[in-house]
Amino acid sequence: MKNNHDYKTKKGNIQEVIPVFKPLIEKEELDACARVFKIGWLGMGSFVNEFEEKVKKFVNAKDRYVVAVNTGYSALHLALISAGVKAGDEVITPSFNNIADFQAILAVGAEPVFCDIDIDTLCIDLEKAQKLISKKTKAIIVMDYDCVLCDHDSIKKFASKNRIRVIHDAAHAFGSKYKGKMIGSFSDICVFSFDPVKTITSTDGGIIIVKKKKEYEMLHELRLIGMKQSASLMYKNQRAWTYDVEHQGFRYHMGNLHAAIGLAQLAKIMKISDTRRNTCRFYNEYLSKIKGIVVPKTDFKDISPFLYYIRVLDEKRETLREYLKERGIDRVYNLRPGHWLTLFKNCRKGDLSITDRIGKEILSLPLHSKMKMIDQKRVVDIILSFYKKK
Ligand SMILES: Cc1ncc(COP(=O)(O)O)c(C=O)c1O
Repeated sequence: MKNNHDYKTKKGNIQEVIPVFKPLIEKEELDACARVFKIGWLGMGSFVNEFEEKVKKFVNAKDRYVVAVNTGYSALHLALISAGVKAGDEVITPSFNNIADFQAILAVGAEPVFCDIDIDTLCIDLEKAQKLISKKTKAIIVMDYDCVLCDHDSIKKFASKNRIRVIHDAAHAFGSKYKGKMIGSFSDICVFSFDPVKTITSTDGGIIIVKKKKEYEMLHELRLIGMKQSASLMYKNQRAWTYDVEHQGFRYHMGNLHAAIGLAQLAKIMKISDTRRNTCRFYNEYLSKIKGIVVPKTDFKDISPFLYYIRVLDEKRETLREYLKERGIDRVYNLRPGHWLTLFKNCRKGDLSITDRIGKEILSLPLHSKMKMIDQKRVVDIILSFYKKK
């Protein structure tokens, strides 16, 4: 074997494994890191400010405030604090969501309440969410599951009817549009992640977008272990030594190195999205013809895809996953519903029949920026051959 990205075929040939995720790290990202090292200010500084400004412009959040933090998890944690969620409150979330959302709810002392998803969008089912509203409900977390978005107009109505806050987890939807509006430009509170496997990465990072200046100012304190001081000096790569602390805070700020990588990635997001969209369309075209597979219901027109998933029917997912793995299609990733996990199994929940079904059917296929056609074909051919054999 040359390295651990290679595998041996049954005929003894060495072939490269196609991973599910692969970040696009090129000269631009390396140059960006070199610039930060040259300046020598590695903590929160001018690159972070520039990243916030450029994200704000890109998602068209003109009337909003953008705050960069070190992960999507910390963005969610601070978003919940901003929304006023406290110990004893309940937060409705799809059980089909990332563990970061559930842990962030616990981190503010609240309880997740698990809701089912819609079978077509794999996003929260609002009719079922309505049945879960209680006196303790303070907020709802909605998550755009990859390439099909939530019904955000109905979510807005749902929230105002029930007088609760909305945290929009858009970790999968950076660069996508909902009814012509950029994701990040319209939600109550919107959160992004730029972790190593996201559509664009800052190696690790997150963004919170809020409407109110007061919430924005509080986020600045919270992300900087509670230090109350203007960010303006840090944004010039300097440090203010006069500060007060009035609230509990967290060491969640983003550093220059991460922001510089994020900026380099943001500059080529159109290229990144285009190539990923083309791969998704190729998959949809060929895999939709297979009877035992359900593909995402979208033409990807306004979507900047993070994942490509299929639903594998008739309890064949594990055998298909193994079949792919034996042929060098590796590291297939799936969400595990929250109510399946030990820590959360006793949380309040509604009917989760769709989540239980999707949790067993969902399978992600390799999707990279600049994925080669030969690799796309290899994935499709292996899946076609699996179904031909049956
Ligand atoms: C939907 C969703 N929310 C939140 C997160 C957490 O983001 P991070 O890994 O940056 O903490 C992820 C990460 O995969 C995610 O997929």
